[in-house]
Amino acid sequence: MSADPMALASSPDARNWHPLSWTRRPVHQAPHYADERAHDAVIAELSQLPPLVLADESRALKAQLARVARGEARLLQGGDCAESFAEFNAQSLRDTAATLLEMALILSRDQPVVTVGRIAGQFAKPRSSDVERIGDVELPSYRGDIVNGAAFDAQSRQPDPQRMLRAYQQSAITLNLLRALEQSGFADAESIAQRHAQLLARSHLTLHGARELHPQSQRLYTSHEALLLPYESALTRRDSRSGHWYACSAHLLWIGDRTRQLDGAHVEFCSGIANPLAIKCGPSLSPDDLLRLLDRLDPGHEAGRITLIARLGADHVQARLPTLVRAVRASGHPVIWSCDPMHGNTVTAEGGLKTRPFERVVAEISGFVAVHAAEGTHAGGLHLEMTGKDVTECTGGSQAIDESQLALRYHSHCDPRLNALQAIELADRAARLLQADKLACAA
Ligand code: PEP
Ligand code: CO
Repeated sequence: MSADPMALASSPDARNWHPLSWTRRPVHQAPHYADERAHDAVIAELSQLPPLVLADESRALKAQLARVARGEARLLQGGDCAESFAEFNAQSLRDTAATLLEMALILSRDQPVVTVGRIAGQFAKPRSSDVERIGDVELPSYRGDIVNGAAFDAQSRQPDPQRMLRAYQQSAITLNLLRALEQSGFADAESIAQRHAQLLARSHLTLHGARELHPQSQRLYTSHEALLLPYESALTRRDSRSGHWYACSAHLLWIGDRTRQLDGAHVEFCSGIANPLAIKCGPSLSPDDLLRLLDRLDPGHEAGRITLIARLGADHVQARLPTLVRAVRASGHPVIWSCDPMHGNTVTAEGGLKTRPFERVVAEISGFVAVHAAEGTHAGGLHLEMTGKDVTECTGGSQAIDESQLALRYHSHCDPRLNALQAIELADRAARLLQADKLACAA
């Protein structure tokens, strides 16, 4: 570990950090539970339940991410906008895991890929408004299945603490299946190539080049937004080996664009856990605020600790990203730069459904790669909302989904996801952009 005096002075113990120290700070995006005692009873129960992941696994992921930070590998992070209780079944889990591994295979043409799912815990959602109004009726907003139900009626929208236990159980079952698949040869390059061929046979897509999955790319780590802090702190444990605190709900946690206030509860909580962290960087984030966040969350300048997920929008990435990249480079924090080309490119289709045009998603990745090529920094990762199912939520791609087809299979309760074919097509487009960039750098 670093002997940097600044890192020691700001270590969690020296700062009186503990898993509940966030409660002294303003908590944004918190649901209101009517029955506080029922809530506290659930939190007490969660605190006694086994960890979902082990500190050792989070350390292993951090070591892999350190390689990405050094420019030796890439990060692929993807999955649902929000997992749901209703959509939960073995087939959709298998499909999503398979699609992620296929994408990793495509992206690993020139560099190994570290694969992290938005999975096994991605339930809580931030909302732009606390309430939703339809006609004369106003109800609390839907905040993800871990908090309340999506149906627009008073009972569903009431936050229910029992949902945290159900989310914990679903995460455990998901992890159990992912771990079993990993052991079963599911992630062998050969099995992936076979599934890949079947999928392509159903489309007129031809992809080239994906041959062998790097052994490290076969592991699927888990991640979600560290949003619902009572749940997260209940699953935070001190690792007996290192003495450090780990959030044991997932390997990696990220701080969302709406909860990254320097003095807020979410940053306080994340500052004390030793997991790898990511920070969403939206258009309102200034370079100064980003540097303050990095000093707070990465005082030890540790490679693999921080991934910065830029989600600036296809129209803004080239104008806004360079100042952030330069500021971070000058600070010396060894971050991974990842591109979320989804959240800055959401539009409302004529029928009222939220969608994302495939070519806008590609355009943001293209701008992101161009900025890193110009700045001499590593275009380290991709962060996507995708599923292994054949949904119709994003327009475009080789199936040429148009706005009139969105309602056919629009299953997301939250943001629109790439379907399986769009996801692998995107991986192919991204791999070409990244490769072209590498050739240009080498020339
Ligand atoms: C998300 O990743 O689903 C999300 C809400 O993103 P952001 O915090 O960047 O808006
Ligand atoms: Co989303």
